[in-house]
Amino acid sequence: MDILKELDVIEKDGLAALAAAEDEDALAAWRTAHLGRKSGLMAAFDGMKDLSKEERPQVGRRANEVKQALEGALEKKLVAVRQATLEASLAGEHLDVSLPGRALPLGRLHPVNQTLRRIYAIFAEMGFQVYRSREVESDDYNFTFLNIPAHHPARDMWDTFHTDREGVILRTHTSPGQIHAMREYCPENIRVILPGMVYRYEQVTTRSEMQFNQVEGLAVGPNITFGDLKGTLTDFARRLFNPDVRTRFRASHFPFTEPSAEMDVECFVCMGDGCSVCKGTGWLEILGSGMVHPTVLRYGGYDPEKVSGFAFGMGPERITMLLHRITDIRHFWRNDVRFLEQF
Ligand code: DAH
Repeated sequence: MDILKELDVIEKDGLAALAAAEDEDALAAWRTAHLGRKSGLMAAFDGMKDLSKEERPQVGRRANEVKQALEGALEKKLVAVRQATLEASLAGEHLDVSLPGRALPLGRLHPVNQTLRRIYAIFAEMGFQVYRSREVESDDYNFTFLNIPAHHPARDMWDTFHTDREGVILRTHTSPGQIHAMREYCPENIRVILPGMVYRYEQVTTRSEMQFNQVEGLAVGPNITFGDLKGTLTDFARRLFNPDVRTRFRASHFPFTEPSAEMDVECFVCMGDGCSVCKGTGWLEILGSGMVHPTVLRYGGYDPEKVSGFAFGMGPERITMLLHRITDIRHFWRNDVRFLEQF
């Protein structure tokens, strides 16, 4: 039978041509020529319809055999060609793609930003939104509206950077943000924290910098009491330091609050026994606070007969120093990676 001889030739030629194909492109071309629609093999399958009933099964079997032989050989050759390509590239390029990559130094959040984010998270859970306000302020917002009139000696509590524009200064604290927030939200109730950089025209020492962060807090609404202030700030201290930390409030003075208090937490280094971190007192001062002064509420647009509020302010650099026992505040702005890498 001619057709069987033809199939032998198709197989033999196909395998010979395959042996000569050396890359994936050649193999793709070979597949089209020897297994594709227009290949001799497919023509043999097509020709089967003209065969007699007796010839057809025999030819069909043989045609299928040839097809499987060619396909199997192609599969093997593909694997061999790919392996050879990889080996050639490994030998030629000296690049071992199976090696792990070199790690890039990624950096991380500045230690003060880590503290800031913890503070934001704690107050967010208590329902306080972050309110951002400007670093360049008028002295009305920084002082007058906070119940510190012009020429009042209380202005000496903050050494101020002035600009060459009359009445324009760098804010010395985040408290002016209280007035911005009140004027924006009045007559709604307020629960905000106001984080940001403040500036002081001061001698730089291990304990004081010319610029640092503060986080201010403000709550305004009907029937807010000193109990709310103490509860909120005590809970904050427990969440930030540890759930059992003890706190105490000491009477203090700020022009924008009445009464005013400073909050201390029990020294978490010596647990109150007295050590170098707490300077032997057993307590660490964390923040200033108080009930918002009626004059300040009025400047914010509220009627102090109808609403009350509490406010507080803390220094995240100082808190970071306590948390990590950092002894020099100047490290924070030195950009020395040997310091920053430790956090
Ligand atoms: N603004 C004060 C400062 O920088 C800190 C402060 C104290 C803020 C008491 C407050 C507060 O809101 O109630 O020294």
